[in-house]
Amino acid sequence: MTGVCNSSLIGKPVECIDTPALLVDYDILERNILQLQRASDQAGLAVRPHMKAHKTPQIAHMQIRAGAIGLSCAKLGEAEAMAAAGVEDLFIANSLVGTPKMARLVALARQVPRLSVAVESIVSAQQMNDAFTAAGMELQVSIELEIGSGRAGVMPEKAVEFARELQQLPALKLRGIMGYAGGLMYDARTEQGRVASAAEEGRRLSATAETLRDAGFDIQVVSGGGTPTAGRYRRDCGLTEVRCGTYCLNDYNQVDLGACTAVDVAATVLSTVISIPADDRIICDAGTKALDQAVSDLTEGFGWVKGYEGGNVFRINDEHGYIDRRRLQADLAIGDRVEIYPPRICTCLNLYDFMYVIQDGHVRDIWQITARGANT
Ligand SMILES: Cc1ncc(COP(=O)(O)O)c(C=O)c1O
Repeated sequence: MTGVCNSSLIGKPVECIDTPALLVDYDILERNILQLQRASDQAGLAVRPHMKAHKTPQIAHMQIRAGAIGLSCAKLGEAEAMAAAGVEDLFIANSLVGTPKMARLVALARQVPRLSVAVESIVSAQQMNDAFTAAGMELQVSIELEIGSGRAGVMPEKAVEFARELQQLPALKLRGIMGYAGGLMYDARTEQGRVASAAEEGRRLSATAETLRDAGFDIQVVSGGGTPTAGRYRRDCGLTEVRCGTYCLNDYNQVDLGACTAVDVAATVLSTVISIPADDRIICDAGTKALDQAVSDLTEGFGWVKGYEGGNVFRINDEHGYIDRRRLQADLAIGDRVEIYPPRICTCLNLYDFMYVIQDGHVRDIWQITARGANT
């Protein structure tokens, strides 16, 4: 949401912020970052947070100060934004395809001291090899594996064959493997059924790492992890690093997954009640342009009102969010302001140019979301 970043609000009470607006609770954010770091340190795992959830230099630097070795990104544009913010170790955990991207990747590699990229097709590998050969440079790569989420990636049984193909591309240096089991993890509480537990994810990835090592490949990095399994990794789980992303801000999907509770959700959308036309609805000014319309099978509706029992946003259109008045265990009046937990923070935050960082009911700071919209 392109708004006017009014820096004169710094130090002022939250009541001074116009709506809709993205708020981030500084203390919760900091606690989430430190907790994951501590749990990972105890398990002997490096932390390489996925920045797609926050897209913000200040949060990246909080993660690095806490002990993260670097960041993961989904998009080249996100990596460029983090490089511009001085982050020196970046992993693009996504397949890069197409000549327009290759020149940018070479330029990024000149700028970032430690850059690595996921690779899962020979088309992408060949394009990267050509670009880096022409530039007289090398690029570190990790093979992306499909470990059961039904996403992209090399099938584990084809990993050795693919690694041998990569060996024919002299500019690419194979350093590790990565996988994402997110699509499998639907209930972090039970780790049952469709759920890949942290242990299972580690087993699947480390089994392929061993097969590759037996075939003579030097696999140093085994990268996995996401918020549903954050903090559940044990020493010797088979991973060397975790790429949790959502954990720092959290969202209502994670609450419903059991990965966190509402008190761990740092990000909310501040909204004003603007109409109460009937008994069944309370309309606030946060619609799809402020909350996002992520279709989610993980949580109900389009958001939950913080601090109100039954405060579900059950319907949404461009400018309006509809709070279910029949379920709400209190009433609201026109002019009241509510904070709404978005179901999915990654796509919600991508709607905003900046976030208000709140501490003790006041605006501690305003941070620009510099990688917002960096979708190429
Ligand atoms: C490849 C990859 N790694 C890590 C993550 C971070 O997962 P989460 O946001 O669940 O922590 C994601 C999220 O989509 C991802 O796609």
